[in-house]
Amino acid sequence: MYLRSFADGDGDGVGDLVGLRRRLPYLADLGVDAVWVTPWNPSPMADGGYDVADYRDIDPLFGTLADADALLAEAHAAGIRVITDLVANHTSDRHPWFVAGLAAGPGGSPERERYFFRDGRAGGAEPPNDWISAFGGRAWTRVVEPDGRPGQWYLHLFAPEQPDLDWAHPGVREEFDEILRFWFDRGVDGFRVDAAPAMAKAAELPDAGHAPGAAFESRRWVGNPHWDVDGVHDILRRWRRIGDSYDGDRLFVTEAVVNGPERLSRYVRADEMHTTFNFDYLTAPWDAAALRQVVDSTLAALAPTGAPATWVLSSHDETRHVTRFGRACTGAGFGGAALAPSPSDLGLGLRRARAAALLTLALPGSAYLYQGEELGLPEVEDLPEEVLQDPTWIRSGHTVRGRDGCRVPIPWGGQVPPFDFSAPGVQPWLPQPAGWAGSTVAAQQADPGSVLALYRSAIRLRRSLRGTGMAWRDVGDDVLAFDRGDVLRCLVNLGTGPVDLAGHGRVALASGPVDGWLPPDTAVWLRPIDPGLA
Ligand code: NOJ
Repeated sequence: MYLRSFADGDGDGVGDLVGLRRRLPYLADLGVDAVWVTPWNPSPMADGGYDVADYRDIDPLFGTLADADALLAEAHAAGIRVITDLVANHTSDRHPWFVAGLAAGPGGSPERERYFFRDGRAGGAEPPNDWISAFGGRAWTRVVEPDGRPGQWYLHLFAPEQPDLDWAHPGVREEFDEILRFWFDRGVDGFRVDAAPAMAKAAELPDAGHAPGAAFESRRWVGNPHWDVDGVHDILRRWRRIGDSYDGDRLFVTEAVVNGPERLSRYVRADEMHTTFNFDYLTAPWDAAALRQVVDSTLAALAPTGAPATWVLSSHDETRHVTRFGRACTGAGFGGAALAPSPSDLGLGLRRARAAALLTLALPGSAYLYQGEELGLPEVEDLPEEVLQDPTWIRSGHTVRGRDGCRVPIPWGGQVPPFDFSAPGVQPWLPQPAGWAGSTVAAQQADPGSVLALYRSAIRLRRSLRGTGMAWRDVGDDVLAFDRGDVLRCLVNLGTGPVDLAGHGRVALASGPVDGWLPPDTAVWLRPIDPGLA
């Protein structure tokens, strides 16, 4: 859940905790087990809250600590767990630690040791090394020292407003132990660990060997000194011990965009995180062989760890998959920036997205839905330049629009913006397309053929899959076909011709019209006609 864009309870055009609390019945009705809420802490919002200035409070934009407590109580009463975001690689540049570091000046001041303040090269004029930022450009910014002169540089693997913490510093480790306990004590059920692979850096901060103008391509990097450095696992183990010291189930899920399933599986070893997001699946193209390869390699890599797989199609960082699947090139790049936008056939994209929902929800493991995908929302690609807020837009010199197009507020009802996201007449923080009246929750609740109805049915049926294995069936190269025990068979047609459904069972759910044949870009769930599908 991207909190800023889910539901506005106080009428300022920005989503908040009161809005979320009011919409809990919707989430319960949809059938979700848990919500992951993007950062809610006080923040200058240089990166939508991923720049935290105070880890023990709620930003006034979103509400108060009392609202968070009420949310936790009400969500739990509705059977919904709450996972919050833990942004620990970096703080805001307004965090008291960083402010104190700037004020302390160079010369070995202890206040600077919690971050990476370093002298520059070439007499101070050049950054200390060649590291790059995920949002474009170099990962170092030079500070103006208290005496007014240009001085040291500090490291930020994201925006300059997000200085990286030095996790080798014991005070940093201890502070985050307490932050975890603060929220666990209040009743949060878990943490989504932001930018986990960034948290450890190679000793002495050696050059990475990046070519001039290199892009941030963490899925390709091997042995990189600022990403997926093995020391990160000590931090994760430390957190797991804290989580395990609490009663009940407490869950950690990492965001780890790393080089392949084997590196990813390290994040979910028995004494580390419980689960980790699967970016190979999120970025895979609409292609049977590619998707099957991702599913197989994911399950194979995770098998020795015993951790469940996760399946994600969209997020607040990626182009919405309705739009992606309607393009000539259907794969994605992390950050919504790697691939140049090309025209999208949204009708085709929506058909595929509906089919992809049934694929995703039939796979073994946890499925994460991004708010609005259950409504079939597309990326909003024509936001006026003046409303764009993603730091990528500025850091790319206004060449990459960034991630705002997937963050447009949810349309809940009504015929015109703000579609009940905010009070009538209030302009949401990002404008919604005027044509979204047919996509609102209210409109879709009244339509048994809607995307929302499909998701609700699939989530309900999916519960019967718990504990069943998965076995592929051979129905041709362009078809993904597998059984979940003898409970359900899933068929997804990624080819160009129809597939005969004879002998596969009784249709329980379909992503589009089926009549004995499964059309292209359509998926179906079938129940056995006789017990035992084999
Ligand atoms: C990953 C988050 O999902 C993204 O939104 C954010 O910009 C970066 N981490 C930096 O915190």
